[in-house]
Amino acid sequence: MCKFVISGGQALKGELTVSGSKNAALPIIAAAILAEGPCTIENIPDIADVQSMLDILRKLGADIDELGNNTIRIDAAKVASHEATFDLVSTLRGSYYLIGAFLARFGRAIVSLPGGCKLGTRPIDQHLKGFQALGVDVEEAYGKVTANAVSEDGLLRANNIYLDVVSVGATINLMLAACKAVGQTVIENCAREPHVVDVANFLNSMGAKIRGAGTDIIKITGVPRLHGVEMYSIIPDQIEAGTYMIAAAATGGDVTIRNIIPRHQESLTAKLQEMNIGVEEGEDWIRIYDSGKVSVANVKTLPYPGFPTDMQPQITVLLSQADGTSKITESVTDFRFQYTEELKRMGADITVNGKMAMVSGPKCLKGTIVRTPDLRGGAALVIAALMAEGDTVIQDVQIIDRGYDNIVGKLRHVGARIERVEDDN
Ligand code: EPZ
Repeated sequence: MCKFVISGGQALKGELTVSGSKNAALPIIAAAILAEGPCTIENIPDIADVQSMLDILRKLGADIDELGNNTIRIDAAKVASHEATFDLVSTLRGSYYLIGAFLARFGRAIVSLPGGCKLGTRPIDQHLKGFQALGVDVEEAYGKVTANAVSEDGLLRANNIYLDVVSVGATINLMLAACKAVGQTVIENCAREPHVVDVANFLNSMGAKIRGAGTDIIKITGVPRLHGVEMYSIIPDQIEAGTYMIAAAATGGDVTIRNIIPRHQESLTAKLQEMNIGVEEGEDWIRIYDSGKVSVANVKTLPYPGFPTDMQPQITVLLSQADGTSKITESVTDFRFQYTEELKRMGADITVNGKMAMVSGPKCLKGTIVRTPDLRGGAALVIAALMAEGDTVIQDVQIIDRGYDNIVGKLRHVGARIERVEDDN
């Protein structure tokens, strides 16, 4: 177990480079199971969740070469098992993508239910409803999903699916499953996140026929086989980039974040400008700088292109410095305010009422000992510690390592006083 020790009050200055997207890399690694040849993938983030997903594929029999420079080669030809047991998948929410991948490859799947962040109930009913529509018998019991194609030939059958909830996971999982289904599948009310588009692009580079990713209607024409991929580059991580944008703003710094797609950050950029934060945009970079007092703003999380739920904890920390009261409404996940208890111990003035939080400022935060509640809550505590007076100790930072590649190195590169220390607590 590790902890971070952070000495706050230092404005971040300089530039840092964003890694590949966690929420694209996880389903893309699972999708490699569908290829009959090797897939070489670059811009893979070096994070714990990716290592967990690669370990799962290794244990299933895939050959995985880490080629250096964030590039891997996956050859899943020898994968013969359609089962991912609890010991393999228990810590990883993205493991549910193995269901869609196994169904497309083998026509059947036995996958233990996912782990990952505790953000209230995180059902997968839309995933299962979609699989059933594709001609799959599905049973969810005893902490696992058992799924079998109904047809003798083990192939799924295309169908029209309307998602009752805009769901990133269900959209991606059903794209995976439908890739080799007989006929054309139409999925409506799809998630439009950049990582949904990235997974569709990767599958198309394998020979899949997917159209419409990035809109709310995706059409997938099944193909009999999917081949390997010479080289595929994963998009930059929109949430990692946003986290560092807010860290720069919260410390009154001047930081250029490189290797990003500014269009993916639009809802955050607009919100920061509304809060009187300095923003300058280039082709693949964004510069955040201090332009005076932080103004209040109201934030409501929505599916893309709305304000991302994965940025909600981080923007709340910044709003604790705004002059007045701001309202944050979490409309995507069931409960994502656990981190506010830790922030209040640092002196933040936050009142949570169900899916809404009111935060008043400006409040000078003071360093203390805090515990990481979940991945993005942990990132929010890092930002709070960077701007707080005195030293902060953040425990359970292995949770932060699930989604941030070299966060200590990147922050130190722009002047943060942060150490990773063994925690014998
Ligand atoms: C993905 O989770 C991400 N995780 C989450 O990122 C992210 O917060 C979320 O998308 C929303 O953008 C991965 O990609 C591994 P959803 P997922 O399916 O797939 C309801 C992070 O911080 N729902 O879009 O679980 C349910 O209320 C993590 O990187 C159903 O009701 O998100 C859920 O909370 C945290 N039935 C909400 O939709 C379903 O079958 C959004 O779910 C599916 C979802």
